[in-house]
Amino acid sequence: MAPTKNEIAASLAKIPAPDGRPLTDSGALSDIVVTDGKVFFSISVDAAAVPRWEPVRKAAEAAVRGMPGVQSVMVALTAERAPGRAPAGGDAPRRAGPGAGARGGPSSAQAPEGVKAIIAVASGKGGVGKSTTAVNLALGLRDIGLKVGMLDADIYGPSVPKLLAIRGRPQTIGGTRLLPMDGYGLKVMSIGFLVEEETPMIWRGPMVMSALTQMLRDVEWGALDVMVVDMPPGTGDAQLTMAQQVPLAGAIIVSTPQDLALIDARRGIAMFGRVNVPVLGIVENMSYFLCPQCGGRSDIFGHGGARHEAERLGVPFLGEVPLDMAIRETSDSGRPVVATDPDGPHAAAYRAIATKVRDQLGGGASPVRPPPKIVIEA
Ligand SMILES: Nc1ncnc2c1ncn2[C@@H]1O[C@H](COP(=O)(O)OP(=O)(O)OP(=O)(O)O)[C@@H](O)[C@H]1O
Ligand SMILES: [Mg+2]
Repeated sequence: MAPTKNEIAASLAKIPAPDGRPLTDSGALSDIVVTDGKVFFSISVDAAAVPRWEPVRKAAEAAVRGMPGVQSVMVALTAERAPGRAPAGGDAPRRAGPGAGARGGPSSAQAPEGVKAIIAVASGKGGVGKSTTAVNLALGLRDIGLKVGMLDADIYGPSVPKLLAIRGRPQTIGGTRLLPMDGYGLKVMSIGFLVEEETPMIWRGPMVMSALTQMLRDVEWGALDVMVVDMPPGTGDAQLTMAQQVPLAGAIIVSTPQDLALIDARRGIAMFGRVNVPVLGIVENMSYFLCPQCGGRSDIFGHGGARHEAERLGVPFLGEVPLDMAIRETSDSGRPVVATDPDGPHAAAYRAIATKVRDQLGGGASPVRPPPKIVIEA
């Protein structure tokens, strides 16, 4: 049995912060996340204080590792602020609101220099094909001539390395920054590259919330027209915080057509509304099924639901992608259909979606639109 948050906190209370107070009273400790015996938390301090806090981080990690039922522990020491700089609460892309920052203040995430627009691909519900859509959309954007990055923000279940068949670890530059990996011409970063075995210095113990900030801040993204972020599924506090931690130009909601999925899609739209991120549109995935044998078409989930829902909510409908064996096989084997069958109908569908997304972003991929007004029924 894994220990509870309270048991972990009790053990951390025995560790003194540099000023002698218990770590748990220092105000630097984030929320503690325990999943299947894996424990994550972060200690956020001023950049100048990092050396003094490193022994505290080590002691905290050792203490939790020694607890019965703990399989792994990751403790991130994150430099929240540069010395002499105010906390980033007033920065334009930051948004105040519920769930801001794990410790009650917004993080200092900003769009990396040179990155023109960051867009999230999200869904209310898991397993609707968000990552598949994100990867193929990114490749579609690449095909229409944009420089594209891909950030896998699904901290719990990163799938982008697999979908793009990327192996190995990112290189570090000067011991402090990471080079993104390459996948079919996309610049890619995922927590999946970093979490197992020995992680590079700056990543030691990436933790749910700070990992995202680090993947934005400590990665040499270079010049990008657009960065596509594959979000974790759901619309809970963790997702809301993530939506706030990334200065998003817009969000794309992926849904399957059936009613239940659409209810979740609506929640997703509402979540982005709460943090003032414009919804660029809805993609209907697994929209219909074309039988490879007879060519007949079946509307397994009642095709068209997402289009109607988009109309009802006044958000753009970006396109539909069929449920097709080729998409599943190519996706799961790291050969995404847009890259491996660029002349096929699926690649064309994803490119059409990509074109709409680019147009939404104003051609030059700069965020210009006011968020659509969304009214959610109780
Ligand atoms: N249009 C499609 N046709 C056939 N299979 C698809 C399609 N879209 C996605 N899939 C398959 O469905 C499964 C789930 O897709 P994916 O991992 O992209 O979903 P997800 O929403 O990112 O899931 P999670 O919530 O776990 O992150 C995968 O096996 C994928 O290959
Ligand atoms: Mg996914």
